[in-house]
Amino acid sequence: MNKVIENIEVRQIFDSRGEPTIEVEIMGSGGKKFLSQIPSGKSRGSREAMVFSFSEALISAATIRSLIIGRSFPSIREFDEFLLGEDETKNKSKLGGNVLLGASIAFGRLLSHVENKELWEVLQDEFFGEYKKESYRPTIFSNVINGGVHAENNLDIQEFMVVARPKRSYTETIARLEKFYRHLGIFLKDKNKGKHPPLGDEGGYSMNFNDNFEPIQILQSMIIDEGLSEVFSVGLDVAASGLFENHLYRFGGKTLSSEKLHDVYKKYFETAELLCSIEDPFDESDKHGFASLKKTLGNKWVVGDDFTVTSSELIQEYAAENCMNAVIIKPNQIGTISETCRAIKIAHDLGIKTIVSHRSGETEDVFIIHLAKAGNVRGVKIGAPVKERIAKFNELIRLFD
Ligand code: PGA
Ligand code: ZN
Repeated sequence: MNKVIENIEVRQIFDSRGEPTIEVEIMGSGGKKFLSQIPSGKSRGSREAMVFSFSEALISAATIRSLIIGRSFPSIREFDEFLLGEDETKNKSKLGGNVLLGASIAFGRLLSHVENKELWEVLQDEFFGEYKKESYRPTIFSNVINGGVHAENNLDIQEFMVVARPKRSYTETIARLEKFYRHLGIFLKDKNKGKHPPLGDEGGYSMNFNDNFEPIQILQSMIIDEGLSEVFSVGLDVAASGLFENHLYRFGGKTLSSEKLHDVYKKYFETAELLCSIEDPFDESDKHGFASLKKTLGNKWVVGDDFTVTSSELIQEYAAENCMNAVIIKPNQIGTISETCRAIKIAHDLGIKTIVSHRSGETEDVFIIHLAKAGNVRGVKIGAPVKERIAKFNELIRLFD
């Protein structure tokens, strides 16, 4: 089979939150079809690539179809560059970031079929050749208690995560994580007057707590009680852009300046020794907040997400200003495989740790696990081990164990 593209189509599907998103299908020669499903975010950075509705995506797909049918591209980079040349906008507002990424991943799958390689091998050969000799096993960031816009409860912090370092195997680590998640459910049911707490958008439990610190304490004591403190720690995603109004933060029922919020976090880290990372602790415009917290926290992970939106330029700019030591990599924030891989590489070169991440509205597409393997990233953020997200846990086991 050759690399000629015979057709491209988009279809509407529904993500794990029941919200509409799209899948993109590319047909190669001989009628073989290659699919990608695109997740969708709810707490998005303002500088993310444009997300097209299904009706807009249909128009974009018609444009792309007229440009690529009958053509072949030797690499993902050339495919992406061709379409980016047609889009020409900063935020993919002509063809849509979700449509472009869907096409890019579906085309990657066509290449993997033609070249008879796993998708991660195609990605590594093309973008990360220099990492072939090392093989890093990423830490799992699993969101087990949901708050913020992902849950209907009183938590301002959006995500309370178990950070699970794989020791011998992912099979073993994920089994431990699943067991921990079940035990946490039983513990919280008790605390919730015998009612099992409902799940938030990413599969973590959702209920009211005394304050934002209580879930951290609960996770830490359970990790210690279960004898897991060698391999599990606790991470947060504040998603603080959602708490920012008139240059102040709404947090814990109060209105706090950036400096006061910094002091709250400092106390959290001083009190909870298993707390190891904090994502988007401040609004995406508050780079001074990021820089001062990074200085305070030393080698704990201060992670950019809405702050850096998988943009190589923003990662470079904020790394130079010492704002963070880790970044979230979300392919649909930037909109093509090539640009995502460039962001990973630039982060590595700058000594910034990379965490490849899902979105709150997920599908069963496992592309990000292949990206994590090819790019030798330090972490994968994939939610709680339930429902659609199980597919990503299984792919971790398949690709790494
Ligand atoms: P999302 O948020 O709802 O935009 O996917 C997830 C995150 O902030 O990490
Ligand atoms: Zn985030």
